[in-house]
Amino acid sequence: MTVDDIKTIGVVGAGTMGSGIAQVAAAAGFGVILRDISDAALDRGFKIIERSLGKLTKKGKLTEEGAKEILGRITKTLELKDMAGADLVIEAAFEKMEVKKELFGELDKVCRSGVVLASNTSSLSITEIAAATSRPDKVVGMHFFNPVPVLPLVEIVQGLTTSDEAVELAYQLALKLGKSPIKTKDQPGFIVNRILVPYMNEAAFAYMEGVGTAEEIDQAMKWGANMPIGPLALLDLVGIDVALDVLEVLYREFGDPKFRPAPILRQMVRAGYLGRKTGKGFFDYTEKV
Ligand code: CAA
Repeated sequence: MTVDDIKTIGVVGAGTMGSGIAQVAAAAGFGVILRDISDAALDRGFKIIERSLGKLTKKGKLTEEGAKEILGRITKTLELKDMAGADLVIEAAFEKMEVKKELFGELDKVCRSGVVLASNTSSLSITEIAAATSRPDKVVGMHFFNPVPVLPLVEIVQGLTTSDEAVELAYQLALKLGKSPIKTKDQPGFIVNRILVPYMNEAAFAYMEGVGTAEEIDQAMKWGANMPIGPLALLDLVGIDVALDVLEVLYREFGDPKFRPAPILRQMVRAGYLGRKTGKGFFDYTEKV
């Protein structure tokens, strides 16, 4: 299969990442089958897409008509078996290995034998996910960054069993999606999260220790290191639960205490303070949700 044979992309999971991926795929002219486990989750995903397209139309980067066409290319479904119609599938479900393994086992049964199955996992082992299928050579990482419609990078992750062909296909597809892919090895956190997540974690420790207020810590990193947003606002954007999941993986896989999560992150997850998506994290978003 070459990238030109891909007409329809399956996206599993309509959360922040899945909806962003569905949006860029549809904007690049692909048909998209977007699957989640409830109507409420699918509706939430569509709202995220509508809001993002709205921003682009407001900026004059897209016409109202164009936005409608993009939405029209996305089909919602609750059935995983509908992925049978996809020429490549990108999974963006929960960051839990058990969930991914189960999903990939099912996708393996449902999808045609030549179809490449990609995971948007931000830190889990592609090699382990691939082992849950009968096509480990066709399982690859395609890791997008939040907000997906804005950030150019897609990390293309080659597991131990992933074929060079599958990597090349994913790489070419990312280019067709208008993204800037970089190939990386299947190591915990790949390139970006191995570096970025410990940075955000350190900011959470600094906050806990009272080095500065959340506002001061973030402003300092913007003024002093030219960051577009501060590390605590970035935690809120990424999701405190997602960042904690990545830290747990880095900590467990490398066995290095430098990756230990700041206890405040665990507390915030327990309290349901997950960042923007729940309206509260290090900052308050109740007005914007
Ligand atoms: N859809 C479409 N457009 C969007 C958008 C969205 N969801 N979000 C922002 N934009 C657009 C805005 O409309 C604006 O457009 P113009 O430049 O044309 O005016 C532009 O992006 C900038 O947005 P804002 O002016 O609202 O605010 P900003 O300058 O702070 O930019 C940001 C927002 C792009 C999110 C920027 O703050 C940023 O790049 N932050 C860092 C994000 C980052 O590091 N992400 C990686 C997280 S790690 C990850 O995702 C991986 C993981 O696995 C955990």
